[in-house]
Amino acid sequence: MTNKLKIGILGCASIAERYFIPAIIRSPKFALGCIASRDIFKAKKWASIYKCGWACDYSALIESSDIDAVYIPLPSGLHYEWILKAIRNGKHVYAEKSFALSRCESSHLVSEAEDAGIGLMEGYMFLYHSQQTMARGLVESGKIGEIRHFSGAFGFPPLEPCNFRYDEILSGGVLADAAGYPLRAATYFLGDNLKLVASFIHRDHVRNTSLWGSAFLTSQDPITVSIAFSFSSFYQCRYEIWGSDGKLILPRAYTSPPDAPASIILEANDGLKYIDVPPCNHFVNALEEFHGIILSPLQRKIHYNDILVQSRLLGDIASYANR
Ligand SMILES: NC(=O)c1ccc[n+]([C@@H]2O[C@H](COP(=O)([O-])OP(=O)(O)OC[C@H]3O[C@@H](n4cnc5c(N)ncnc54)[C@H](OP(=O)(O)O)[C@@H]3O)[C@@H](O)[C@H]2O)c1
Repeated sequence: MTNKLKIGILGCASIAERYFIPAIIRSPKFALGCIASRDIFKAKKWASIYKCGWACDYSALIESSDIDAVYIPLPSGLHYEWILKAIRNGKHVYAEKSFALSRCESSHLVSEAEDAGIGLMEGYMFLYHSQQTMARGLVESGKIGEIRHFSGAFGFPPLEPCNFRYDEILSGGVLADAAGYPLRAATYFLGDNLKLVASFIHRDHVRNTSLWGSAFLTSQDPITVSIAFSFSSFYQCRYEIWGSDGKLILPRAYTSPPDAPASIILEANDGLKYIDVPPCNHFVNALEEFHGIILSPLQRKIHYNDILVQSRLLGDIASYANR
């Protein structure tokens, strides 16, 4: 217990309560040190439930010498300010997606972190679910032949009108929130060199916020990629990889619950198979990865690059759609 790194959380966010804190409790590497909230009553209540310290403002937690790292599940529009403060106070940072709202913000944060030897991780936990490694294994073993096309979609029905996601400045809109998942899945399979060809984002001009969109990209090979994302559609959480000899589908690619089995659908010339994937707590696995980032400069570099690639591509999608 004494060797565990102490992690502090900025904000009593739903994602922290549902998944991140339960993962810390199971983690052999981290202990929950402190929770900060804008609401002192919430901070004290959570601290008493989870037996940790509390702070009634985010700065106090970040400045505490008792904390080694911070988890930032704030709306994306607040990430730059708080990630920068955390880096400047020597805290390793695990920030929810999207890491920042522009390429310029991400580059600055990465450059400061690199100079200070601070680890950064963007919260795409779905990458640490075993269904992803199994899917990649199937592709690499040639089960679907050569990849021709990747398509992915993430979106959900309308949220409560007061949800922060409808405040574009605070959340970054549908691009920062939903688009990042299928995009990150595409780079997981196809690497960093994707190039944007076209994109479209539908805006609701009354509420002044983005609601849905799609983008088309290519890799050098050439493999084509299409992604779709929405705040206002039937629930979709999938990707499909279409190859020369078959295809595979992950129907619950980004939000598979940690305690439920997942499945991969594989279709090739020898028929259709449903491959069962046992339950996997990708939140615990992601914390393990964060621990590796803190310890290893090499692993840190990989994540700096991942953050920059993701924000470059999201920036290109935004620029094309707004041209
Ligand atoms: N990786 C994933 O699978 C995943 C899944 C869901 C969400 N997320 C990400 O996690 C983050 C939080 O999402 P969530 O659904 O958990 O949201 P949420 O429950 O609304 O939590 C956001 C927290 O941010 C704090 N906050 C500070 N300023 C705020 C403001 N002006 N408006 C609203 N909240 C403010 C609040 O904490 P206090 O009031 O306590 O200070 C609030 O509890 C987002 O960045 C989202 O993209 C990631």
